Amino acid sequence: MPENRRHAPGVSTRLDTYVDRYAARTKGMTASEIRALFAVASRPEVVSLAGGMPNISGLPLDVVGGAIHDLVDERGAVAMQYGSGQGDPTLREQICEVMALEGIDAHPDDVVVTVGSQQAVDLVTRIFCDPGDVVICEAPSYVGALGVFRAYECEVVHAAMDAEGLVPEALAEAIAAVQAAGKRVKFCYTIPNFHNPAGVTLSASRRAEILRVCREADVLVLEDNPYGLLGFDRDPHRALRAEEADGVVYLGSFSKTFAPGFRVGWALAPHAVREKLVLAQESATLCPPSFSQLAVSAYLSEHDWLGQIKQFREMYRERRDAMIGALDDLMPAGATWNVPEGGFYVWLTLPDGLDAKAMLPRAVTARVAYVPGTAFFADGSGAQSMRLSYCYPTPERIREGVRRLVGVIEQETDLRSTFGTGSGPVAGRGYEAPNTDLS
Ligand SMILES: Cc1ncc(COP(=O)(O)O)c(C=O)c1O
Repeated sequence: MPENRRHAPGVSTRLDTYVDRYAARTKGMTASEIRALFAVASRPEVVSLAGGMPNISGLPLDVVGGAIHDLVDERGAVAMQYGSGQGDPTLREQICEVMALEGIDAHPDDVVVTVGSQQAVDLVTRIFCDPGDVVICEAPSYVGALGVFRAYECEVVHAAMDAEGLVPEALAEAIAAVQAAGKRVKFCYTIPNFHNPAGVTLSASRRAEILRVCREADVLVLEDNPYGLLGFDRDPHRALRAEEADGVVYLGSFSKTFAPGFRVGWALAPHAVREKLVLAQESATLCPPSFSQLAVSAYLSEHDWLGQIKQFREMYRERRDAMIGALDDLMPAGATWNVPEGGFYVWLTLPDGLDAKAMLPRAVTARVAYVPGTAFFADGSGAQSMRLSYCYPTPERIREGVRRLVGVIEQETDLRSTFGTGSGPVAGRGYEAPNTDLS
């Protein structure tokens, strides 16, 4: 071991002796608030309304197991070999069939398979953004994408959303302000369907408006759509990419409609961009994993995957109903939330004066976890709000989680009215959750 990597006896090994060698971009790499929560929130006694883990308990593991067995048996030598940097051609054809459900008419040549859509966000940012370039994001936005933008030293500028999704006027103003400051907007990152974390969906009339604003300002749209097929009450919305092929890079994923463990997602890009994405993919991973791709491909060709998605939608709808029912019944006046039409998330804003981040330790003591709104803003705002996920716990657990959360909010409100402050030094005993056989 080189001298400078040795630790003298008695010197804490927790000190990072490499600290002066890291690239500047690592300063932007911090554990997300969600990761920091993970250890606590995954304890069985805690009702976690925090994580966004898909609930794959309904997957027919015998069918998947059989398909994987056959894959090894029949195509093992291909499945366990390196593959093409762009991804398996058959899977790319199947991906085009999936996207056709959202009105997208695409050619498999323009699809690049990625390691989850998370890697697609990374590759797109890698090929477009230099340090200091601006990415426009909804306010709030997906924490994993914000992490990528930070890692590439982009500046994130938020544009407002409301119940109909991203507000076109706010987007136009944000772009104009950035351009007036002499900076370049490289793309607008948007999650049009069943937004993570806001739960809202971009209305049909706004879709055309958002495309128009971006076209006129010469800004690329990065459409991230992992939840699009998980609507509860209607056929899928038409993708932005369905209306415009040139100015949009579309990202999809099998994580929420099949299983995240395979880590298979994709990007659909204009031809020239696709070329760059393949080069970026090759330098990042050589090729996306053959085994996962062929397993997903076998699942799509041999299983009723649309029927499976229907089952997922029904399960998530039941959980959404449990969450909204519990919020309607139990939440105190002053708290507001939306009713998502699909996906995994509700965005809840606390009564005035309360701070979701400061309240979190108290909530965890009360055995309920959520993600504070601050995780979803690059500028640290959002403290009065939180993301509640209903995808994973059972309806009974969801209701119990909301009941515990309401207890914490009420205690917090009492503290404020008594001492003029909530969580913090004045905080007294933690809220004690009553005994329950749900914990
Ligand atoms: C909006 C959004 N984009 C991308 C991802 C990444 O998904 P994956 O990499 O599993 O495809 C997620 C995961 O939660 C997400 O919510």
